[in-house]
Amino acid sequence: MLAVEGGEPVRETLLPYGCQAIDEDDVQAVVETLRSEWLTTGPKVDEFEEAFAARVGAKHAISFSSGTAALHGAAFAAGLGPGDEAITSPLTFAATANCVLYQGATPAFVDVSPDTLTLDPEQVAFRINSRTRAVLPVDYAGHPCDLDPLLQLAERHGLVVIEDACHALGAEYRGRGIGSLSHMTVFSFHPVKHITTGEGGMVTTDNAEFAKTLRCFRNHGISSDARHRQTVGQWHYEMVLLGFNYRLTDIACALGLQQLKKLEANLARRRKIAASYSEAFRKIPAILCPVVCAEVNPAWHLYPIRLNLSKLSANRGEILRALRGENIGVNIHYIPVHLHPYYRDRFSYKGGEFPVAEDAYERLISLPMSHAMRDTDVEDVIWAVTKVVEHFTK
Ligand SMILES: Cc1ncc(COP(=O)(O)O)c(C=O)c1O
Repeated sequence: MLAVEGGEPVRETLLPYGCQAIDEDDVQAVVETLRSEWLTTGPKVDEFEEAFAARVGAKHAISFSSGTAALHGAAFAAGLGPGDEAITSPLTFAATANCVLYQGATPAFVDVSPDTLTLDPEQVAFRINSRTRAVLPVDYAGHPCDLDPLLQLAERHGLVVIEDACHALGAEYRGRGIGSLSHMTVFSFHPVKHITTGEGGMVTTDNAEFAKTLRCFRNHGISSDARHRQTVGQWHYEMVLLGFNYRLTDIACALGLQQLKKLEANLARRRKIAASYSEAFRKIPAILCPVVCAEVNPAWHLYPIRLNLSKLSANRGEILRALRGENIGVNIHYIPVHLHPYYRDRFSYKGGEFPVAEDAYERLISLPMSHAMRDTDVEDVIWAVTKVVEHFTK
């Protein structure tokens, strides 16, 4: 019997949908930095940025206090301003589109592909007009977007591609690492991500001008940093653009450096969990597993299944409640951005504008996915999903 109907839950305690893994090396690294001379904008920031750039194969990596701040920096560096449009996906976290609004520009949503739920390049091509200045593709769930056609469109129309890879650290597209392909690529180090700094983000780029602007923007628009001035004995500094304090601390970067050493193991664990889920759920007709294109190696930030509602006697909300009753911390990614009250009110969206994203939203459930999960956790998820979905199968 289902737990929501009074039966025994599959687990005694809640398994969260995402969770960090922190070990003794991480704790030691943070403690050492707390005892050091620099708590912020010191040597650990440089070390983390250099190690990160090397890992993703980019010339420059510029750290930020969050993925959202990093997106804002990238939107600024791309030159987005009032009157401009940036094309992006509605099926994402609101921060992707919000960074366009921070710059006074307008997000132009385009529907996603029905298979991967990433931005559809054909629809992007159709949406480009004289106001379009940037494209912000989102590597949804850790599956890279179809970047080659997007980059070709950008080249043809003089656009900047800001890839939101907050889900995709360690993913590959046509054998090349995410972070080395778009004009700017943005990452997040929130605790549910592949590596964490508590809060934190990064922009990677091969473009030296973008890198210079990003460094300046995250530091109030000041053209030199305090450590450099101290080293050369200089007091004078100049604010050359209107920036913010979006700096990531040395404490956070010390943690990031340690976490980065574990990225390969974290990715391998996530890929193994995804393979176990796909193996188990492929046989269940009411479940559509995430689609993986041949040319990509996803990073599996999320494992979002889609329900085939025509085969079920319950809607997504009832299935979600039943899974939570079994102590499986399922979640929804995402409420399409244009359907949030702020976007509805400001841009008069009514629903129905982006049918693929909206249909996916009605059927999506993100299962727990984290490199901290044990084999027994994975078994619990498989058992609970099978139990609940079979219960409601017509
Ligand atoms: C797709 C996407 N973009 C941007 C962000 C914002 O990152 P942060 O939480 O580090 O600000 C997130 C956060 O989860 C995200 O999932």
